[in-house]
Amino acid sequence: MIQIAPSMLAADFLHLAKDVELVNKYADLFHLDIMDGTFVPNISYGFPVVEAIAGAAAKPLDVHLMIVHPEKYIERFARIGVSMLSFHLNATDKPAQTLLHIREAGMKAGLVINPDMPVESLYPYLHLCDHVILMSVYAGFGGQKFIEDTFGRIRILKAEIDRLGLDVKIEIDGGVSPLNAARLIDAGAEILVAGSSVFKSDDPASVIEAMRN
Ligand code: DX5
Ligand code: ZN
Repeated sequence: MIQIAPSMLAADFLHLAKDVELVNKYADLFHLDIMDGTFVPNISYGFPVVEAIAGAAAKPLDVHLMIVHPEKYIERFARIGVSMLSFHLNATDKPAQTLLHIREAGMKAGLVINPDMPVESLYPYLHLCDHVILMSVYAGFGGQKFIEDTFGRIRILKAEIDRLGLDVKIEIDGGVSPLNAARLIDAGAEILVAGSSVFKSDDPASVIEAMRN
């Protein structure tokens, strides 16, 4: 099953309830980008916003940490009711321990890599992951252009996941739209994150449907 995860970074923060309702009604997951201004140059939003969305969400929360020391905040996100928690492989020197810790806290655990990091760098940790996020732009900002190499990277990773007989979902994040969704799914992606293409559209519901089909 393909899951569409609108990135709330592109939502209308003055009318967040409206965009939360849109995701509740038409999409599958809330993708929440947490940036600290250190791991990435940008700062997004923090716990007050995540808690507000959690309180109104009828769909699971998929939190993407772009922060240093991701291990420090695992319990806090678990308490808020987050379902999926992922962090960048190069944000910690204890990736395996952090993945285990996320699972022990009752959440699905994910690793994220930027487009310049080989997919092979994920292989030692795949058995500890429920999902992996391949960035199709460099993490830090919404609205960037999709990097075409992503299709090949998905195929390589998907082949390794299948070879190992694991159930790890491939999630794609950055520049996703109805223009590339079908090819991403065909390559092996199961979760599509989309910010600008959904929320900057005049008809977000039909953009979500177009990506799903
Ligand atoms: C980028 C974030 C993405 C971003 C996607 O660092 O991880 O989730 O919000 O936004 P679009 O779909 O606009 O590229
Ligand atoms: Zn993201």
